[in-house]
Amino acid sequence: MKGIVFTELMDMVEATFGADMMDDVLEDCSLESGGAYTSVGTYDHKELLEIVSILSKHSDIPVKDLVRKYGHHLFSRFHALMPQFFEGPKSAFEFLESVHSYIHVEVKKLYPDAALPSFETERQGEDTLIMIYKSQCPFADFAHGLMQGCIDFYKENIRIEGEDKNSGDGFCRVFTLTKQ
Ligand code: HEM
Repeated sequence: MKGIVFTELMDMVEATFGADMMDDVLEDCSLESGGAYTSVGTYDHKELLEIVSILSKHSDIPVKDLVRKYGHHLFSRFHALMPQFFEGPKSAFEFLESVHSYIHVEVKKLYPDAALPSFETERQGEDTLIMIYKSQCPFADFAHGLMQGCIDFYKENIRIEGEDKNSGDGFCRVFTLTKQ
């Protein structure tokens, strides 16, 4: 997983819980990298899950909630860091439809070693978008948080429901997004 995903997490943890909390969490982790991340490096995604699970113990907030909160936060950071991806889409559905066919394609060009999920999208009428997440990594809750960040960015009122599916090797969640 790219270092930017780690450095942004650490920035969020420090801003939300304080620098001491971040130090305490790192002390309790046994990370191969030692917790010294650079935004352009590549690290095992399991390190991210370990940091979040120790943070969950220290903060008493469930892992799922922390991962979603982080996804939500990262969406606005992407807007600040990579505004070019926000020039075309005019709505949350349009943006979300561009993630697999455009944004992650460009991300892969920038970082050839990025391990990205796949998303299939399908509109069902005007008010519903189906988005199927598939990945080798268990980050469906992170996707959920990013989707919520996108919906809030466009100031829309859209409900997200997710259902995990068995997909053989890897992880799969079918998201149904419905305008309210
Ligand atoms: C400007 C918008 C976006 C940018 C620049 C972006 C970029 C990235 C980058 C750099 C990674 C890390 C890849 C790696 O570490 O190997 C990533 C992973 C990921 N992205 Fe995006 N992304 C964007 C929007 C989204 C949105 C809206 C979603 C959800 C619908 C999404 C879902 C994910 C997920 C779930 C992962 C984790 C890897 C996995 O599950 O396999 N991204 N993205």
